[in-house]
Amino acid sequence: MKKCHFSELGLVNTKAMFQQAMQEQFAVPAYNFNNMEQLQAIVIGCSQSASPVIIQVSGSARSYIGTAFLPHMAAAAVELAKETGTAVPIALHLDHGSNFELAKDCIDSGFSSVMIDASHHSFADNVALTKKVVEYAHAHEVTVEAELGVLAGIEDEVSAEKSSYTRPEEVERFLRETGVDSLAISIGTSHGAFKFKLQPGQEPPPLRFDILDEIEQLVPGFPIVLHGASSVTLAHVEMINRYGGRMDNTAGIPEEQLRRAAASAVCKVNIDSDGRLAMTAIIRKIFTEKPGEFDPRKYLGAARDELIAMVIHKNTTVLGSAGRVK
Ligand code: G3H
Ligand code: 13P
Ligand code: ZN
Repeated sequence: MKKCHFSELGLVNTKAMFQQAMQEQFAVPAYNFNNMEQLQAIVIGCSQSASPVIIQVSGSARSYIGTAFLPHMAAAAVELAKETGTAVPIALHLDHGSNFELAKDCIDSGFSSVMIDASHHSFADNVALTKKVVEYAHAHEVTVEAELGVLAGIEDEVSAEKSSYTRPEEVERFLRETGVDSLAISIGTSHGAFKFKLQPGQEPPPLRFDILDEIEQLVPGFPIVLHGASSVTLAHVEMINRYGGRMDNTAGIPEEQLRRAAASAVCKVNIDSDGRLAMTAIIRKIFTEKPGEFDPRKYLGAARDELIAMVIHKNTTVLGSAGRVK
């Protein structure tokens, strides 16, 4: 693995992005990617809508892409944004970093931001690990996200009983003891494309805005992060089902709730599943309608176009991040 500082790749950390998002009451999109087409779509969509962007990979996505490729892809993303139109600021972020060594490797190889997710450990262990990552990261100007509270997994019922919501009374002490730059909280979102299993006519339960409001009052101006924020777009789920897939009665976070969160202390909104659904829907459609198609450019290219449209839609009408880069 070649050592490099993120500035050599043309990347920025999340500090200025979050300051602007807080002042102007929008949220910076954090889109996950695993391959070239996804990354191109995210960057083109954000450049065309003049939105700052966080491009993020999980540990497993980083392994899938490979550490030889990743820094070059990030540098190419910066060039692509310039070529496309608006040279939007881009941060490369480690999503759900599980240990110090992984976070350190990422920092050493050009990431500008890392998450250390020790939320499933005890408060004391979460503080200790987060603090260790913060010390190393800040020495390299890299920003750090941590998490308090645990997001629910797949729910069988509409309720979110299995999650453990963030306890507002722990937040101020956690921030003081760790020196972290942003905090992911648990207020009723969950990861994946099966957040809520709804019967016809049922609505997903609302997010716990009371917890978010309390945290905002306790630590005013501190950037909050929302994970598990895909809306599980119905049009894509229906397209998947129409063209041979099977995703029953699933629902995500309604756009209206994300709009409300984006206008609050939430400065970063994580979206992975919606991008996966958009690409899968289009690829299934093409394979069904054109069974003889075997040129990857024909189906991956169309999937990329669909993802560009999704990114522009979210930036423009949900997160409010469009038009923020002058
Ligand atoms: O929160 C996790 C992300 O959605 C992606 O996770 O790349 O390990 O599937 P994964
Ligand atoms: P979704 O599964 O809702 O897209 O959440 C993604 C996420 O939180 C990545 O960290
Ligand atoms: Zn997440």
